[in-house]
Formats: sequence, C-alpha cells, structure tokens
Amino acid sequence: MNKLASELNDILEGTACGRLLSDFGRRIYFPKGILSQTAEANKQAHRQNATVGMAFIDRTPMELPLMRKQLPGLEPSQAVAYAPSSGDPALRERWKQEILRKNPGINPDEISLPLTVSGLTNGISLIADMFLDEGDDVVVPDMFWGNYRLIFEERRLASLKTFPFFSEEGELNIQGFRKTLEEAGKRGKVVAILNFPNNPTGYSPTKDEAKKLVEEVNSVAEQGIDILIISDDAYFGLFFEQDTEKESIFSPLSNLHPRVLAVKIDGATKEDFLWGFRIGFVTFGGKGMSRKQYIALEKKLTGSLRSSLSSCSRPAQSLLLKGLGSPGYLKEKEQYNKEIERRYLKVREILRVSDTPQRLEPLPFNSGYFMSFRCNGINAETLRLKLLGKGIGTIAIQEKYLRVAFSAVDLEDIPGLFDTIYETADEL
Ligand SMILES: Cc1ncc(COP(=O)(O)O)c(C=O)c1O
Repeated sequence: MNKLASELNDILEGTACGRLLSDFGRRIYFPKGILSQTAEANKQAHRQNATVGMAFIDRTPMELPLMRKQLPGLEPSQAVAYAPSSGDPALRERWKQEILRKNPGINPDEISLPLTVSGLTNGISLIADMFLDEGDDVVVPDMFWGNYRLIFEERRLASLKTFPFFSEEGELNIQGFRKTLEEAGKRGKVVAILNFPNNPTGYSPTKDEAKKLVEEVNSVAEQGIDILIISDDAYFGLFFEQDTEKESIFSPLSNLHPRVLAVKIDGATKEDFLWGFRIGFVTFGGKGMSRKQYIALEKKLTGSLRSSLSSCSRPAQSLLLKGLGSPGYLKEKEQYNKEIERRYLKVREILRVSDTPQRLEPLPFNSGYFMSFRCNGINAETLRLKLLGKGIGTIAIQEKYLRVAFSAVDLEDIPGLFDTIYETADEL
C-alpha cells in the first residue's frame, strides 16, 4: 500500500469511518503529484510558474475571444481554468454556510467541509467506491431511485436489502428499516441510503417519524454495529406540509453516535434549478471525528475524484458561487419553490375531490417533485404505454407503480393530466 494511504488510514484508525472503508477506500490517497506541486508553486513561484498543464498569456489563462463573448460575467480564471480536484475553496465554504443556514441543528464544528463532485450521482458513486466491497449490503426502502441499483449492485457488486417503504397502515415503515438494518449489520458493518423527499413517492418523514428513525439508528449502533448512512438530499427544501421535518436527516445523524458516519449528498441540481451544471457536494459528519480525521477522509475522496473525473466543471462552479452570492438569490428560488408547491396543492385537491379509480391508489406524498400511484389489478407498464399513445408521459416502476412528476407540468395542465390518467386506467 502507498505510504500516503497508510498515513491517512492511521489518522482514521479507531473511528467508525476507518472500520467502514472498503479495500479501495483504504488504498486511495491524494498524491503529492502535479496538483499539489502546482498548489505550492501558486503560492511561491513569483518569477515564472511552469507547472500546470494549461496555457497562459500575461499570466492569465488563454481564452478564445469567441468563448469570452459567451461568458461575459466570468474572468478567464473563473471560466476556463482548472478547478482544484476537491472543488473551488470559496464555493465549498459557501455551500457549507448554505447547509448550516438550511439545517440550523447542525453544529458547524461537527461536519467536514463539503467536497465538490460532479452532481449527486457522482457523489453517491464515489461514496460507494469508498465504503463498499463485493458482497456488502446496502439497506434501502423498496421505493428508491433506480440508479442506486446500477451504482451499488452493478458497479460495486454489493446487494440491496430492501424493506417496504410504507407499513400496512400507510405510514413510514420505521420498524422495517430498523429490522433490515439490524439484520444486515450482523457482520458488524452496514451501509444504508435514505432519500427524502423520496423519489419516486414524494414522501418525507414527519418531525416525529424523523426522530424515531434516528433513535432506531442509535439503538442499532449501540449493539456495536458500524453504520454508514447516506442521506441523498437531491430534492431538499421542497417540503409542503407543516408537520414535515424540514431539516435533513443528516443533521441529527451527523452527531449521533461514534459508530455512525453520516454522509450528506446534495447539490445544485434540483435545489438551485441547475440540472445540467453537474455540481453536487459530499459532506461527512460523525460524532467525535476530529478536524484532522475529516481532512484525511476528504483527501481520500479527493484522490478518488482525481482518479476518475480529475476535477469538476470550473464555469459551473463559478456561476453557482456567483448565484449564491447574488442579492436576489433566496427570493428567486423561493418563487420557483412556491410554483412547485402550487402544483403539489393542485394534485392534492384533485385527489380529494375526484373519484380516484380503485385501481389507482395514491401512495403517501408530501414533498418533492413526484407522486406515485400503486396500480391494483392493472399493469403499470400497460397503463404507461396507453397514456403515451395519448401523448402523456409518465414513468412505470416495477410494473406496479406509476410515477407522475407534477413538477414538470404547468399548473393549468394538471387537472387535464389527472383526468386522462384516470380515464385511461378505467379503460384497462
Ligand atoms: C433521488 C435522486 N438522487 C440523485 C439524483 C441525481 O442527481 P444528479 O443529476 O445531480 O446526479 C436524482 C436525479 O433524478 C434523484 O432523483
């Protein structure tokens, strides 16, 4: 093993994080190569800096004039220069402040600095590399974003251990989660992923449910099981009901128990209406982790990113940083969030006042972009295809569920959309 990797492992020794690392997670390190030599030169090479593989003119990165015209608000260093592998330091610091603003329950000293990744998918994949070996279990509700299967099972050869997301009574199945976590944790280590607001159901826990979930994690950790909990916060902030927990589950988990390492994966993708920017963040929180240990872990993750993407898009990071610092930022975002909320309320009204066909049973939803129907006695894929024939696009899941992204449909078109879905289900 490389000496630098051993040094990082030594720093993490004795923590849940150190025990949870995969083989790859133990081997990876951030080399003292071109990037760190360049970083040293950026500080000290006052005469000539002949380090980085970029082209400069007058000590400014060369930028074609025609590109300059496309990006008038950005300096060449903000537009075309490489960003550090871990992300633009100013953006990382700013995103941490944003996390703290949105989650007042987090103690700033208890979490790492967010590392910039290329969207949430990349963040989840990097964490999977770092903590999962072949045959490891990943606990996840049975209603999950399909890409988890590719990331955890196909890439990492781990196996998904699912539990029904909702109980028979139609509530969040906290006991099912606990049992599955306990069962999968019998080997002393377990990884779980929670995604609130959930894709595909659009459900987020109530304040009470969130509290109970966290208590269950604590009691499993008390049995001597090391737990990595990933909080996929892709749709964070789109909470439409009063009793819904408005903080990320990462917030209480980040300071829960020395055997629990929490990871928050979030980003600009949906939260800032920047889907194609490919900017996400990975933040760690574990009770008792020291700053030195967080930095060791960040170095490992940076090494992993360096060996795959090398670094994330510089102009996207610069534009996001500028956007976050602009005076109208919160107001504009709030207006769009409110528009999605109006669509949510319209869907709720339709479900309340119209005769929903027996064959379409709406699952609980209170947040995010989506709602889903359980299809009783009809095949969701057949329904989807029939709707498509009428010019309506929806998503069929496991042939049992039909997911409707109300976020994507203008308010005035929502009643017509649901009328057609109902009619078509009746025709089957
Ligand atoms: C639950 C969930 N996580 C992650 C993602 C991916 O986010 P990104 O586009 O930033 O990779 C999505 C996108 O649909 C999602 O629904």
